[in-house]
Amino acid sequence: MRKSKLRYYIHTFGCQMNENDSEHLAGLLNSSGLEPALSPEESELIIVNTCAVREKSEQKLYSLLGRLESIKKKNKALIGVVGCVAQLYRSKLWDKKPSIDFVIGPDNYWQIPHLLPPSPREKVISTQWSTEWHEIPFQQVRRESLVSAYITIMEGCNNFCAYCVVPFTRGREKSRPMSHILAEAEDLAFKRYKEIQLLGQNVNSYEDPDTGHQFPVLLEEIDHIEGIEWIRFITSHPKNFTKNIALAMKEASKVCHQLHLPIQSGSTSVLQRMNRDYTREEYLEKIAVLRDLMPDISLSSDIIVGFPGETQEEFDETLSLIETVRFTNIFSFRYSPRPFTSASKEKDNVTFEEKKKRLIQVQALQKKIQLEVNRSFLGQTQKVLCTGRSKKDPHVYSGRNQGYQVVNFNSNKEVIHQFLQVRITSCGPYSLFGQAV
Ligand code: SAH
Ligand code: SF4
Ligand code: F3S
Repeated sequence: MRKSKLRYYIHTFGCQMNENDSEHLAGLLNSSGLEPALSPEESELIIVNTCAVREKSEQKLYSLLGRLESIKKKNKALIGVVGCVAQLYRSKLWDKKPSIDFVIGPDNYWQIPHLLPPSPREKVISTQWSTEWHEIPFQQVRRESLVSAYITIMEGCNNFCAYCVVPFTRGREKSRPMSHILAEAEDLAFKRYKEIQLLGQNVNSYEDPDTGHQFPVLLEEIDHIEGIEWIRFITSHPKNFTKNIALAMKEASKVCHQLHLPIQSGSTSVLQRMNRDYTREEYLEKIAVLRDLMPDISLSSDIIVGFPGETQEEFDETLSLIETVRFTNIFSFRYSPRPFTSASKEKDNVTFEEKKKRLIQVQALQKKIQLEVNRSFLGQTQKVLCTGRSKKDPHVYSGRNQGYQVVNFNSNKEVIHQFLQVRITSCGPYSLFGQAV
């Protein structure tokens, strides 16, 4: 028997922006009278929010859709595909999977209550681009966390890195009016959120459409909001990361001394072929400025191995850059050719086996460095924001330090969603362990 209210389930792939978009979609569906289900099996509306950044991310969608087929039949459910794969292939998605009922791109989520197909026989598509920012009322957002919140501040990308599909899925850069961002941050502070993460494909090129104010001003403004204790942002492009931004980070007391600054390759010639618009030396110079201003800064990065034409010497430069910088964390990927990108039209002479070998080498080196970095924290007492509790042991909690590292710790007191001091007593390459003090 179908309940009186239509139940929905959203499955999210991809980055933090997709997670935040799904929170927005859930909010819109709730305020249209639908109710969230705990699993796709219990729902009549299933939305898959997709990622197109690598071939593997796309494959995940097709295998999930295959698994959803029986639920679709049993529940007479509608299945919608939204997000980056939806925007990339538009109506062509029906050639791949005819069972999809609707396809909606990221620029059109604000209309979702009006876009749901009126009957299972009608297919709906909405993937036109928009040059304007469409606000989704932030009061409605249905957030996953009660203590740390995402705020999207800009969307899209104008850079067209040779390997990257994002400009074709998220369109050109659009900034959200600062007044809306600040209103959302105030609302979160009122709701007792402690941490804010500002999101955008290229946050450092933020520019308020109303006043022209740039990213450093936004940081300064959010820094004044009472109740918020930690501010982070992602993603920064090294080309747009200026000394002014580093100074704003240092001056705004709530901005964490933590930065994700994707380098992609340690070789200037590869960077040039990737169309990244900075050199190895310029990147290292920015790192030096950051460490000079904030000696305790925690740095992370993204690395692509096996970009077309990457020679052994060029790859070795990536290894040496990783050795030089000593990141707290990196995300490393095998190059994957993507539709519409310029690199996908090049001949790729780095074999799959070679790519695999290089990825293993990068990850082994980083693992060794991370263990050394983490060991240097033993005996220190760090401020931690507790985000959850271990399911196995009620005295073991989990959280993040200012450097955005995972810290698991013992506490006899209930500390969920609170800040506390943790003494670090042991570690592995991927997390720290300690005792609440
Ligand atoms: N600025 C974007 C980047 C998203 S993609 C954002 O934060 O929203 C995240 C990372 O995926 C990139 O930094 C890059 O390292 C990797 N990546 C992108 N395209 C890729 C490709 N074709 N193959 C392998 N890795 C890729
Ligand atoms: Fe994936 Fe990029 Fe889209 Fe995020 S913006 S979902 S990483 S393709
Ligand atoms: Fe992609 Fe480069 Fe933009 S990595 S998101 S095209 S800055």
